[in-house]
Amino acid sequence: MNYTIAALPGDGIGPEIMESGLTLLETIGKKFQHEFNVTVYPFGGAGIDETGDPLPPQTIKGCSEADAILLAAIGGPKWEKAEKTPEDGLLQLRKTLGLFSNIRPIAVSDSIAHLSPLKTERVKGTDFIVVRELTGGLYFGQPKHWNDEEATDTLFYKKSEIDRIVRQAFDIAMTRSKKLTSVDKANVLASSKLWRKTVNEIATEYPEVTVDHLYVDAASMKIIQNPTAFDVIVTENMFGDILSDEASVITGSLGMLPSGSHAVSGPSLYEPIHGSAPDIAGKNSANPMSMILSVAMMLRQSFQLHEEADALEKAASEVMDAGFLTADLGGTTTTTAFTEQVKAILEK
Ligand code: NAD
Ligand code: IPM
Ligand code: MN
Repeated sequence: MNYTIAALPGDGIGPEIMESGLTLLETIGKKFQHEFNVTVYPFGGAGIDETGDPLPPQTIKGCSEADAILLAAIGGPKWEKAEKTPEDGLLQLRKTLGLFSNIRPIAVSDSIAHLSPLKTERVKGTDFIVVRELTGGLYFGQPKHWNDEEATDTLFYKKSEIDRIVRQAFDIAMTRSKKLTSVDKANVLASSKLWRKTVNEIATEYPEVTVDHLYVDAASMKIIQNPTAFDVIVTENMFGDILSDEASVITGSLGMLPSGSHAVSGPSLYEPIHGSAPDIAGKNSANPMSMILSVAMMLRQSFQLHEEADALEKAASEVMDAGFLTADLGGTTTTTAFTEQVKAILEK
C-alpha cells in the first residue's frame, strides 16, 4: 500500500527525534512492503526562519492533503517574542484541521517499571489513556488579550464541543475496562458545571461504563498515588495538558509519551506530548521513544497496520530491556545509537 505522510520536524530536539521516527518508518516500509511517501514541511520556529510564518500556507496544504501527519516538537527561546510564535502556529494547525480529540496513552510494562522515580510496585501495570479536548477551552476562548496592566483569558465551551470529546472517551472506555474518570473543577468553574452535567447525561447511553468524577486538584494527586486505578480519563484542554505531563513521571520520563489527535474527518496528527527540550537540543541525547511510539500510533490508528505497529513497539522495548537507555532514563545511549539498535532488530 501507498501512504502519504506530512512530516513536521520543528525545533530543538524535534529534528533529532523525527530523524529517528522516519528512519524506523522506512525500515518498517521495507520489511512489510509499504510505500510511505514522506514530505517534510517547515513548521514552528523553523517555519518562521524559513518563511516568516510558523505555519506557512504550503505546510497547511501539505498537512490537509496527507493521509497522516507526524509532528516532532516546536518552540524555543529564539521565537518567544515573535509576533506569531511557534505555539500560535501549533494551535492554528490543530484548530484548522479540527483535531479536537487528543489521545495520550500512559502505559508501564513490567520491564520498565523500575525506571520510574515512583515505587516500582505502585507503577507496575499502569495502563490508562488521557483523552484531552484539544480545540477549545482557555487556549481558544475570546476575549484573550494582555497589556502591561491587565490580562484576560476566557474558558469557553459549547455543549457540542464537550459532547463530542466525552462520547469519544466513552467509546474508548467500551473497548477497554469500561471505567471512565471525568476530571473537572465543577466546584468552581462554570464550564466544568456544564462539562459534568454533559458527562452524566451521556453516561445514561453507556450503562456498562462506570463513571466517576474527580476535581482536577485531587486527580493530580491520585494519578501519582495510585496510577493503576485509572483506565480512561477525559478532561478539558488545559487540565489534560498538565495531567499528561504529570503522568509521564509514572513512566520514568516525559520522553516516553506519544499522542494522536483526531478530527471528525481528515488526517490525524501524531506527536510526542513533550516540547522541543531546548536544554538538551543538539546533543544527540533526546529519548526518541515518544516519537517512535507516535509512529506506531499512526500505523495502527490511521493505517490499520497493526502487525507493523506491534513490530516497531516490540523492537523498541527490546532495546530498552537490553539496557540501552537515553540520559533522561539514567543511561548513556545516544538518540542515533538507540535508533540503530531498533533498526537492527527490525531488519533481523
Ligand atoms: P519540554 O517538554 O520541551 O521539556 C521539559 C523537560 O523534559 C526538559 O528538561 C527536557 O529536556 C525534557 N524532555 C522533553 N522531551 C524529552 C525527550 N524526548 N528526551 C529527553 N528529555 C526530554 O518543555 P519546556 O522546556 O517547558 O518547553 C520547551 C519548548 O517546547 C517551549 O517553547 C514550549 O512552548 C514548547 N513545547 C512544544 C510542544 C509541542 O511541540 N507539542 C509541547 C510542549 C512544549
Ligand atoms: C502540548 C504543548 C502545547 C499545548 C503548547 C506548546 C501549545 O504543551 O502539545 O502539550 O499546550 O497544547
Ligand atoms: Mn503540553
